[in-house]
Amino acid sequence: MAVQWYPGHMHKAQKEIAEIMPQIDMIIEVLDARIPYSSSNPMITKLRGDKPVIKLLNKRDLADPDLTSRWVDFLEQETGVRALPVTTQQPAEVKALIETCRKLVPHRDQMGKNIRAIIMGIPNVGKSTTINLLAGRIIAKTGNEPAVTKAQQRINLQNGVVLTDTPGMLWPKVENENSGYRLAVTGAVKDTAIESDDVGMFAADYLLEAYPTLIQKRYGIDQLPQTGWDLLEEIGRRRGCLRSGGKVEMNKAADLLLHELRAGTVGKITMETPEMVTAEEAEVERV
Ligand code: G4P
Repeated sequence: MAVQWYPGHMHKAQKEIAEIMPQIDMIIEVLDARIPYSSSNPMITKLRGDKPVIKLLNKRDLADPDLTSRWVDFLEQETGVRALPVTTQQPAEVKALIETCRKLVPHRDQMGKNIRAIIMGIPNVGKSTTINLLAGRIIAKTGNEPAVTKAQQRINLQNGVVLTDTPGMLWPKVENENSGYRLAVTGAVKDTAIESDDVGMFAADYLLEAYPTLIQKRYGIDQLPQTGWDLLEEIGRRRGCLRSGGKVEMNKAADLLLHELRAGTVGKITMETPEMVTAEEAEVERV
């Protein structure tokens, strides 16, 4: 599934960020812990040079804790990268990143100079909520509409760190089809053009393979079906997503599953593993 993004806008954002980079000591990238690869922005690796990066795996409250720790190990294999699982529901976890900034850029700290950090993230990963927590006041708009910082915004956190909010809007992994689906499953992209039963089927296929016990428990299905489509049908039947005549309304069943998945009521679920995405990257390069 291809995610729609705009080349002109991507080019402009890249140029603006490249211009700011010489005045920046380090990068804070906010990711969605359920999709640490698919929610990352491909440009950051190119633009960072050897600057340290903190990858905040936000929404860890919704992600599978075992996979989150595997992701931390995987991401920290890259030189200069620290990965911190956090949830904005626990503000102290987010605020602890300031200490990590100091450790990553010790020379600025020792000189008594402010550490200059830039914060980046694709829409809906929780960047605005994070900024507001760090600043201790409402600076960035949160919620459904992606908050686009029109001009570069500098926020003095009053603790030795000055935060620059990224101008423009960053895009996710667009070249990997599975990433498009995962972004839709977690609700990061809300494109009405995408059929919800397609996204629901993608989710159901993955859940059958990766989290069968959670599905059995949530929907009371002892004998799981073989395919995602059949699973959606079974969920729809059990939850009353029916047309007159008793046929299952598949898009309603898909919406139900996606809604519960996003809210975390199915369980703590991560939609991708380091092994999966390593194999997919190799496949994308091969094609
Ligand atoms: P953004 O600036 O990156 O676009 O994200 P923003 O802070 O606006 O957060 C997007 C949504 O994610 C918000 O929900 C916010 O409450 C939620 N969120 C942020 N951090 C966390 C977290 O650690 N855990 C959980 N569970 N949710 C978090 P919303 O206002 O309901 O918007 P939406 O989800 O309906 O789009």
